[in-house]
Amino acid sequence: MKFDTPAGANPTDRMKVLGKPLDRYEARLKTTGTATYAYEWQDVAPGFAYGYILGAAVAKGRIASIDTTEAARAPGVVGVVTYLNAGKPGVGKFYVQKMLAAPEVDHYHQPVAVVVAGTFEQARAASAMIRVVYDRTQGRYDLAAQTATAPVPPEGEFGGPNEKAVGDFTKAFAAAPVKVDETYTVPDQAHAMMEPHASIAKWDGDRVTCWTSIQQMNWGTRDLGLILGIPKANVRLISPYIGGGFGGKGTVQIDLALAAIAARVVGRPVKIALQRPLMFNTTIHRPKTIQRVRLGAGKDGRLTAIGHESWSGNLPGGRTEPTVTSTRTLYAGANRLTRMRLATLDLAEGNAMRAPGEAPGLMALEVAMDELAEKLRMDPVQLRIVNDTQVDPENASKPFSTRAFVQCLQEGAERFGWAKRNPKAGQVREGRWLIGTGMAGAIRGGKIAKAGARARLGKNGVVTIETDMTDIGTGSYTIVQQTAAEMMGVAPDRIVVKLGDSTFPETPGSGGQQGAPSVTAGVYAACMKLRETVAQRLGFNTAAVDFVAGQVRSGNRTVPLADAAKDGELVVEDVMEFAKMADQFQQQTFGAHFAEVAVDAYTGEVRVRRMLAVCAAGRILNAKTARSQVIGGMVMGVGAALMEEMAIDQRFGFFVNHDLAGYEVPVHADIPHLDAYFIDEVDPTISPVKAKGVGELGLTGVAPAIANAIYNATGVRVREYPITLDKHLDHLPEVA
Ligand code: MOS
Repeated sequence: MKFDTPAGANPTDRMKVLGKPLDRYEARLKTTGTATYAYEWQDVAPGFAYGYILGAAVAKGRIASIDTTEAARAPGVVGVVTYLNAGKPGVGKFYVQKMLAAPEVDHYHQPVAVVVAGTFEQARAASAMIRVVYDRTQGRYDLAAQTATAPVPPEGEFGGPNEKAVGDFTKAFAAAPVKVDETYTVPDQAHAMMEPHASIAKWDGDRVTCWTSIQQMNWGTRDLGLILGIPKANVRLISPYIGGGFGGKGTVQIDLALAAIAARVVGRPVKIALQRPLMFNTTIHRPKTIQRVRLGAGKDGRLTAIGHESWSGNLPGGRTEPTVTSTRTLYAGANRLTRMRLATLDLAEGNAMRAPGEAPGLMALEVAMDELAEKLRMDPVQLRIVNDTQVDPENASKPFSTRAFVQCLQEGAERFGWAKRNPKAGQVREGRWLIGTGMAGAIRGGKIAKAGARARLGKNGVVTIETDMTDIGTGSYTIVQQTAAEMMGVAPDRIVVKLGDSTFPETPGSGGQQGAPSVTAGVYAACMKLRETVAQRLGFNTAAVDFVAGQVRSGNRTVPLADAAKDGELVVEDVMEFAKMADQFQQQTFGAHFAEVAVDAYTGEVRVRRMLAVCAAGRILNAKTARSQVIGGMVMGVGAALMEEMAIDQRFGFFVNHDLAGYEVPVHADIPHLDAYFIDEVDPTISPVKAKGVGELGLTGVAPAIANAIYNATGVRVREYPITLDKHLDHLPEVA
């Protein structure tokens, strides 16, 4: 099925099942411990052994020699895999990291060896017997030291151009009566998902099957094929349940690559889970950014000049962190300059983490907007409203498909009680606490991509949907169930959903917040085909057939849906393909975040007291799972604002706080009252289902809202995240 003009009325508009706050399809399995996660598979690969990865002890250099003799003789050891016997692993298409030091070491803890043994403990014990001698060389670990020489890289395959100019920024900024010119830093951050990366790989001749934890099946099969040097078609991935990803499991990481490589070397299935330090130092992370934002405005608050420059670092061949993306689309303003520079750093690869670009980019832009509002003596909500635009600010001929940004701002201000705020910073005290409120705008691309699904109608009237979509804890199962139930006119309990198997029809998987809109469009296509097939089978020779309450109806004839399959299961498959709409419309999701904080006047400790998000993301497919995505994003935003930072040892080039003891993320006690509301809208330019993603939108704008609230409480502007108490303590108002 092709989607090439805005959607008209269709069966999803009934909203009998779609939109409802249905409980998770798989909730019972997860809460009873019977959903099988990657590391828990046992019977699928009889005789499997455990792999344990030894990471490089230097960050830059090469392996001068490696002696595995003693390890190979240790109890239970089946084999030791290094670059000497692994063959040269290829590199996937999305990540540039190399899966093995071979023998060059590109970053700290890059895998040097995999020990395979009968038990995890045997493998771990033997790994300590490997003798590696390194030639260590000096690496580059400090982004700030590289900014002067970092080039603007050419445009790559992913993300937009690294530099864009509209109008004459320099002139307009110089002439602007009111200006902000500030630099903000967002540190390296870890995905830190609960479930570690884990995989089990089993070869059958030249074909490999892997039970793993991965967000994007078809990227995974492609990339694992490239790494192993085998066709994508020879790779099967199975990943029905995933304990969080946030982009950190986008495609193939070392657990999967090395389980497959080790299994090939030792000739039996291998299971590998990453110990936490490898997740931090070896898999991808959100790279640090240094961002300079320059805003020029007239006295009326209208932006005349918008400049956003950003520096990030990466391994050779890696990409920029696309921080300026949101600045290109969020506000009107005739003169614009956005530019990203990229330094080479010898740290683990920087790559996608939840709302890559927008999340760290808004942590700068939306604080700069707060600073501008203060200089203008203008309300920060009002400043954003006067700079709204209904067309792409870089291309006036391209309207936004839907843009309810102003509604989000107004609805949020109303619900939060923004009018009661004292705009002057450092004024409100409650005993020992300095109280402040802040807000920020949010934007995230509303992408969609080609997605397929298979639909089966059984004799019992049950409809089974199969797609390679994944559920990373987001609710994919449930929205697929709801879409199919709505389309087929049956109760949700008549729908069986099977996800996370690469042999099922392809979707873009969970990433770029395009999973929900894409997979539901694929399910729409498959269900439309099933409806046609059912109608034909039942002898309805008209297009005006209704599917309601398990019945198929036309005129005064009504037949149970199940009757269509009484001679055997009906199986159909279709793919939704998208043409051109994104060229005609700027498709984005929007939000507004509000936060209230209390800062201890004596110690500088920050407590978030309440938070509110109002979002606009097209049709909301499930009121409960969408809300969960947004409040989950808000929790993550508390971490970004106040806690998260991977600290780099500048001598040896590694992330020091490489576990959940040292890398702080919010706990329940840190999370205040929070709530999320959605603007009632549909976006017919996206797909027949008219829904956009919300999973990444929920994070963008959260941290700057908190940062702005802290400023409002204290009068101290901290421009270096996370906002820990040491950064403002010395500047807090006198308490006695
Ligand atoms: Mo996302 S960072 O595209 O999982």
